[in-house]
Amino acid sequence: MQYYAAPMEGLTDRVWRQAQQKWFGPEGTAHRYYAPFLSPPENRVLIKKKMAELAPAANSGAPVIPQLLAKDGELAAWMIGELRALGYTEVNLNLGCPSGTVTAKGKGSGMLRDPAVLDAFLDAVFSHAEGPISVKTRLGVSSPDEFAAILDIYDRYPICELTIHPRVMRQLYRGQTDRAAFAEALPRCTMPVCYNGDVTTPEELRALETQFPQLSGIMIGRGFIADPALLRRARGGTGASREELRGYLDDLYHGYTELFGSAGCAVSRMKAHWFYLIHRFAGSEKLEKQLRKAREPWEYEVLVNQIFTLPML
Ligand SMILES: Cc1cc2nc3c(=O)[nH]c(=O)nc-3n(C[C@H](O)[C@H](O)[C@H](O)COP(=O)(O)O)c2cc1C
Repeated sequence: MQYYAAPMEGLTDRVWRQAQQKWFGPEGTAHRYYAPFLSPPENRVLIKKKMAELAPAANSGAPVIPQLLAKDGELAAWMIGELRALGYTEVNLNLGCPSGTVTAKGKGSGMLRDPAVLDAFLDAVFSHAEGPISVKTRLGVSSPDEFAAILDIYDRYPICELTIHPRVMRQLYRGQTDRAAFAEALPRCTMPVCYNGDVTTPEELRALETQFPQLSGIMIGRGFIADPALLRRARGGTGASREELRGYLDDLYHGYTELFGSAGCAVSRMKAHWFYLIHRFAGSEKLEKQLRKAREPWEYEVLVNQIFTLPML
């Protein structure tokens, strides 16, 4: 079973990918790190700053899989060619993003609204691009019953791996993942399938592996940000020590300060990490509120020092 780090815009960038592997690898390294989505530019001129995320020199370690959020299949195929020229092999297509601004444009899980549109998109991608292409999907827009028709379309293309997040678009991240619908769909998939959704502990990871031994992979998102040592624990290793977490968070903070050229911008990126991580510290509620309001780097630094005096769970 392969373990993948989920693509998460604003979290699993190159600074995070390097810090996670430095502090928790090799035992806690994922087999692959899916990069947050890129949108292919309509004028076909690559944006340097965005492409820097995927610069091979900034991405040593485990393989990184670029992800595209697109609606125009030919444009996506062009971008896949550009990514191949950088040395990437697999490219992932985002058909799962539930954000209103994305789906309103018919992208992400908005593409699942109309099977004919989805079919035309995939036809254009696969007839113009070469090499392995994987897909990340939800079960549908408003009901898991939609997935049978969606899967009929996926089954027509040589998708190298299908990652299924068993929620529908309208759910966003609310409620439970629909594991019953996932179990029902699995035997009908002709390609390797990866499960994604709500895995936060090694026990849950093992339970999934036992329930679905035929999976090719399990992808973990929020649970990996909340516990960057999750995979090390899943492989029988130790949990994150206080020193490791401190070193990891300091590397993230300094890495973002350098990347953005501003500690203030780094603070806002760090808050996104702390949103998931702070629950590792007992009695952190008051500091959590203060951290949410912090703007200045000095405020952030003082608060982090205070958080690290709390007992770890
Ligand atoms: C802040 C945030 C950003 C995300 N960005 C992306 C993205 O760029 N591409 C994508 O396919 N999914 C994205 N996702 C969805 C995750 O990859 C994943 O499917 C979701 O978090 C469910 O998995 P989890 O329960 O393990 O977190 C994002 C989710 C969150 C919460």
